Amino acid sequence: MSNSSPLILALDTSDLKTAHEWIENTRESIGVYKLGLEFFCMFGSKGVAEIVAQHDVDIFLDLKLHDIPHTVAGATRAVAHLKPRFLTVHASGGAAMIASAVESVPHTDITAVTILTSLSDDDVKAVGYANNALLTAAQLAALAVGAGARAIVCSPFEIEAIRSSVGDQPIIITPGVRPPDSHGGDDQVRVMTPAQALSRGANFVVIGRPITSLWSQGPQAMKEKAAQILAESI
Ligand code: C5P
Repeated sequence: MSNSSPLILALDTSDLKTAHEWIENTRESIGVYKLGLEFFCMFGSKGVAEIVAQHDVDIFLDLKLHDIPHTVAGATRAVAHLKPRFLTVHASGGAAMIASAVESVPHTDITAVTILTSLSDDDVKAVGYANNALLTAAQLAALAVGAGARAIVCSPFEIEAIRSSVGDQPIIITPGVRPPDSHGGDDQVRVMTPAQALSRGANFVVIGRPITSLWSQGPQAMKEKAAQILAESI
C-alpha cells in the first residue's frame, strides 16, 4: 500500500513503461498516484489494473465524470473493480448524480471537482453561474459533500472558503502547486507552494512536472526531487 505522504503525483505520460518507472522511483515519497483522462483514454481500465497489480499503490482516478445519474452510476460501477482511492466527478453534475456515484462505489472516496482553475471569474459567469469562482466553488463543494462526496478538488486559493463551507471532515486536494525553487516554465499561473496549500487546510497536493521533468536527468534525480519536495512540504 501507499505511504502517508500528502503528495499526489500526476502520471501525465502516454507511455505505460514510463508510468511504471516513475512509480518505482518515487514511491517512498508519494502517497497517491493520479491517472487522468489521457491515460484512461489510451490504456483504459486494463492499464489502470496493470499499475495497481504491479505496484499496490493508491490511485486517484481523475475521470471527471459528468452525465445523468444513471450513466454515471454505470461508469463508476465499471471502474469499481480497480478500487481507486479517489474517483472524480464534476460537482456541477448535481446532487443526484454525485449520490449515484457514491452509492455505486462505496469503498472509493467520490471526489468532487468544483470550478476548474482554468476558468476565470468572467468564464464562470459566462457559463451561467451568478457568483464568482470562489463563491461558486464553495457552493458546489457544500452541495457535493451534502450528496455524499468525501473529497473536493479546488484551487489552493479556495481552500479556506471551502473549509468553512464543508467543515473539517472532507478531504481537500489541490493542484496548482509549485515548490519554492520552481522558476516557472510551464502553464501553472496562480500557484502556492505545497507547504502553503497544506497549511491552509489541504490534505493532499497534486504535483506533476516539478518531479516528472527530472526523469530526463535519470531515475536518481527524480527520486531525490520527490524526496526534497516531500521534506519541504511537511
Ligand atoms: O505538471 P503539473 O504539476 O502542473 O501537473 C498538475 C496535474 O494536476 C496535471 O495532471 C493537471 O492536469 C492537473 N490539474 C491542474 N489544475 C487543475 C486541475 C488539474 O493542474 N485545476
